[in-house]
Amino acid sequence: MIRINENYLKLKPSYLFSEISTRVAAFQEANPAKEIIRLGIGDVTRALPKACIDAFHKAVDEMAFDSTFKGYGPEQGYAFLREKIALSDYQARGADIRSDEIFVSDGAKGDTANIQEIFSADIRIAIPDPVYPVYLDTNVMAGRAGNPDDGRYSAIVYLDSTDKNHFIPDLPKENVDLIYLCFPNNPTGATITKDQLKPFVDYARQNKALILYDAAYEAFIKDENLPRSIYEIEGAREVAIEFRSFSKTAGFTGTRCAFTVVPKDCRAYDAAGKKHLLHAFWNRRQTTKFNGVSYPVQKAAEAIYSDAGTIQVKELIHYYMNNASLIRQSMQSLGYACAGGENSPYIWVKTGLDSWEFFDMLLNKAGVVCTPGAGFGRCGQGYIRISAFNSHENVARAMEKIMKI
Ligand code: MLT
Repeated sequence: MIRINENYLKLKPSYLFSEISTRVAAFQEANPAKEIIRLGIGDVTRALPKACIDAFHKAVDEMAFDSTFKGYGPEQGYAFLREKIALSDYQARGADIRSDEIFVSDGAKGDTANIQEIFSADIRIAIPDPVYPVYLDTNVMAGRAGNPDDGRYSAIVYLDSTDKNHFIPDLPKENVDLIYLCFPNNPTGATITKDQLKPFVDYARQNKALILYDAAYEAFIKDENLPRSIYEIEGAREVAIEFRSFSKTAGFTGTRCAFTVVPKDCRAYDAAGKKHLLHAFWNRRQTTKFNGVSYPVQKAAEAIYSDAGTIQVKELIHYYMNNASLIRQSMQSLGYACAGGENSPYIWVKTGLDSWEFFDMLLNKAGVVCTPGAGFGRCGQGYIRISAFNSHENVARAMEKIMKI
């Protein structure tokens, strides 16, 4: 008898962003004439930077000739891209990361979802609340989360991020083996300072734990004093894996390119306490299950680091961050307390009402789609997340419509 993975029965019936799409589609069907402005899922709307498009075209043309055609590439990514990443994103900021510690992939969602399979099934996990749902759901699927209990899972240690701690969770009070962190944060938009991040690194070192650090939104950091990478913190190489993405940085949500950094001295242990290096484990996983990102896409990503690409990406980020300022100012002018939007494309708005009710109200009365905070966890109840990823015109119109209700 074929049997299912019963852990799937413990999941919420649908993934947060699928649930939102379903509700929005139903609303649109019932109100075909109504204009809908989407500030829900963080999906970019502007074209790829010209430097990326030029490199993309050129690489596609190379595929048209036997002499320049490329078949399978290295599963870890082409050296031309990995070297640029190591140099520009890490070494230039004083973070000691080498190109062979970078694994190019087709998205940080997949990488943050897949990474848990290299760890034991019985480790104890700390997950912030609210949280990007992928970290939690993939551990539920793997059977690590325990049973659902009043909106939470019995075996997970939740790190509450609330306005009381400015959305920076405290260290776990009990022993955990794995800690998920995301800064700039999705969904709260909060950022972390080096002094606030250091205790997490120290905790991981002292407790033989590991940190999974999602830095997919680092390009939106304007404040030069904030760390863009966990490897800017001393001692992090041994205890942290970092995830980055070109999706929001350079408009690659549909093009797909990201990377994961596993330093060669990053470690975990077996049941007997023997140390193992995670680089070899992730390499084994990727070479078995993944055949790399296409050559033209990696060429397009490489162009982000060219002189023209750097300028164009900055302009793109600036464009969305203007939207973020407008959203933050508009919501504050209506009397709502807001986090995020200053070094992040997400604005976390305290509504004081049930998140899903507020979501429905914005959709019905203003035709604006946001993301209900409760979808990210219990601590998100009473909040909504508004995304800055849309055109200026649409964001301005959305704010006007919200002001009117
Ligand atoms: C979000 O809206 O939280 C993101 O777009 C989701 C993702 O990057 O997968």
